[in-house]
Amino acid sequence: MATDMSADRREVIVLPEQGALVGAAARQFIDRARDAVSTRGIFTVALSGGSTPRPLYELLSAAPYKDEIDWEKVHVFFSDERFVPPDSSASNYHMVCDCLLSKVPMFERFVHPVATENGTPGEAAALYEEGLRRVFAVGLTEVPRFDLVLLGMGEDGHIASLFPGTQAVSEEDRLVVESTVPGTNARRVTFTLKLINAARCVMFLIEGRAKAEAVRRALDGDALPAALVRPTNGELVWLLDESSAGGVAVPVTRRQTL
Ligand code: 6PG
Repeated sequence: MATDMSADRREVIVLPEQGALVGAAARQFIDRARDAVSTRGIFTVALSGGSTPRPLYELLSAAPYKDEIDWEKVHVFFSDERFVPPDSSASNYHMVCDCLLSKVPMFERFVHPVATENGTPGEAAALYEEGLRRVFAVGLTEVPRFDLVLLGMGEDGHIASLFPGTQAVSEEDRLVVESTVPGTNARRVTFTLKLINAARCVMFLIEGRAKAEAVRRALDGDALPAALVRPTNGELVWLLDESSAGGVAVPVTRRQTL
């Protein structure tokens, strides 16, 4: 079992089932949003795609959670995107708009989708990186520092669209790059670990028995993209349900009972 320093800076929180898991994620989201807004006047968050975060977005879109966030101070980005039109059912932007952004009083200009309608994934990645630097007002030698990056994880240990064994995982200079889902021609645009690990907080939201082996391996420090998520100067929170935490031997920060 890896016991590197980063293991000491992370929280592994296990919730009994999906409802409690999503509730804990909503609480983390709100607390970090309120802290960011009171400290810096805005909350910058990168949202994950996939199916796991949908119930979280739906929870945040309605009272009482919705009313606890100053949505006019929130900037939303996407930690990865499928290179499909924004109205495609496969689009992460489309899913997040459907579950959350269409239901809360955000400024439209503070929602930052990846431009997937023209050009190539590589051009879209470069444009997204330029947009990030502009919003965060950082130059070419600095890295934008998100208040929160929300991630899921695949059964193979991928995060965002950083798939095991692909070049995008080992990218050390760019903040946003193109990638392709292995074994398919599905093209993606994704944050790199350089950008993810600059965040004040990275929060994994993972559920289900199918993820248990990848969770155990990642927390043990095996060579999976998820294991490479180690915020340089930030917090790392693993929010798991009992099923996905099944094989975890590393210290669990707290196991919340119903
Ligand atoms: C995506 C996500 C991806 C996702 C994992 C887990 O665009 O699909 O960013 O990294 O988080 O594949 O997906 P599920 O939550 O659907 O299991």
